[in-house]
Amino acid sequence: MSKILAVVGSPRKDGNTHILVSKIAEGARQRGAGVDELLLGELKIKECDGCHRCWQGKECGKRDDMRHIYPKIGDSDAIIFGTPVYWYGPTGLMKMFLDRFVYFNCPENREKVRGKRAVIAVAFEEESIETAGLIVDMFEKSLAYLEMELAGKVLVPGVSDKGDILQKPERLEEAFELGQGLV
Ligand SMILES: Cc1cc2nc3c(=O)[nH]c(=O)nc-3n(C[C@H](O)[C@H](O)[C@H](O)COP(=O)(O)O)c2cc1C
Repeated sequence: MSKILAVVGSPRKDGNTHILVSKIAEGARQRGAGVDELLLGELKIKECDGCHRCWQGKECGKRDDMRHIYPKIGDSDAIIFGTPVYWYGPTGLMKMFLDRFVYFNCPENREKVRGKRAVIAVAFEEESIETAGLIVDMFEKSLAYLEMELAGKVLVPGVSDKGDILQKPERLEEAFELGQGLV
């Protein structure tokens, strides 16, 4: 069975990003995948301080939830990265999570993510798709650096209040199909 890790980078539970990521997960489940959902706002994930212990074949020195999440990342076939736009970038939660991928940027650990597929899901208030441009760029470059494959993206402009995204059925359908295509 295909395993998907669905990561919600908004602190707002049941908010637009959560709904969007859940829709991608629903599409993947419909094709038989097992989905593990991570709400970053409910986890303790500290900042990477660049000590590079992980590059010396050691465990990350941070005593936080990434200890359990690193094996989940390794075991997954694909990852969904979901974040709202916060000041034209990702949330702090998502950035701290992505920073911890430096763990995979060494020969010992690179195998654990090489070739792994990922999709990104971004919700934001402004109407211009360009608002998500820096986030798309960040993931395109970072995932390519890690030799992962950005398999698709769903960008949802014009959503502000919690649940606004439910008024965008065509975007949710796009998200569902993105999830189906991940499996
Ligand atoms: C701190 C903060 C910064 C934000 N910055 C932007 C922004 O730069 N551009 C934008 O279009 N929306 C911005 N927003 C709006 C959110 O992207 C929008 O409300 C989104 O739907 C929230 O998703 P969520 O329900 O998953 O938390 C910001 C919201 C917050 C709280």
